[in-house]
Amino acid sequence: MPLRHATLRQLKIFDALANHGSVVRTAGALHLTPPAVSIQVKQLARSIGQPLIEQIGKQLHLTSHGRLVAAACRDIFNRIESLDQELAAEQGLERGTLSVAIITTASYVVPRLLGDFRAEHPGIAVAMHVGNREAILGRLEHNEDDLYILGQPPEDGRISARAFAPNLLIAVSYPGHALAGERSIGLERLAREPFLARELGSGTRLAVEDTFARAGLRPNTVMELGSNEAIKQSIAGHLGYSILSESTVRTELASGELVRLDVAGLPLKRQWYAAYPRNKILSPAATAFCGFLESRKPTAVG
Ligand code: PGA
Repeated sequence: MPLRHATLRQLKIFDALANHGSVVRTAGALHLTPPAVSIQVKQLARSIGQPLIEQIGKQLHLTSHGRLVAAACRDIFNRIESLDQELAAEQGLERGTLSVAIITTASYVVPRLLGDFRAEHPGIAVAMHVGNREAILGRLEHNEDDLYILGQPPEDGRISARAFAPNLLIAVSYPGHALAGERSIGLERLAREPFLARELGSGTRLAVEDTFARAGLRPNTVMELGSNEAIKQSIAGHLGYSILSESTVRTELASGELVRLDVAGLPLKRQWYAAYPRNKILSPAATAFCGFLESRKPTAVG
């Protein structure tokens, strides 16, 4: 049976199965029974002439054909969502969902922007996924969202990225830290102090390690933590200092709970970017959000 006998319904079910990774969860999400999901996936595999999934132990995996079909499903359903928005726009309506994947640290900046955007475009719903740099790059690679917000887009000709706001990384400690109040602290002096690092895969960590490495130094990492919040609490608990995006510590600096260290060469001047695969056709909702970010851009951002 050739592929043209595959139905949109089968592709929809397979797309959900690829996302949920389990027949039972897929059935629950689509209000079907597990056998109904299995039958549709089997029929799709028969049309294609190849198995699409394999069960190893309790884990369900996509075969290489399954991965190709899953990627095509994402393109097809993105295009359908986009078409729905274009048809609505023809009637002067705005509708649809804007799916944005944002890097953890950007969650101190982007939700407010999305709030203002929604106030201007109430017909557009927003789905927001938060993850560290590695997780967001994984989503971008698989074309899972409309837009990706991150601090350092990969230097890859296949990615289009526009800067829309500054992102400064600063050194912060608790008041009473040995270096608090000192002027122009050298990086080699800072490197000796107990340092609290973000987890592997974090963009902040990558930028900080790179800064020390370029000076031939390594921070004295005493603890690794999986979030900016956990790091702030640990600094407040006198476990060490860290280098974080200024946006994450504004409240604590204002209240005096944390203090900024005056380090020569800091802040690291980075930017927030909205990125997407260069060959992607942006949905009307994503185009509207890019236009909104552009209109909010401070003039200093490139
Ligand atoms: P992170 O990324 O939240 O993964 O640390 C932030 C950044 O790249 O600036």
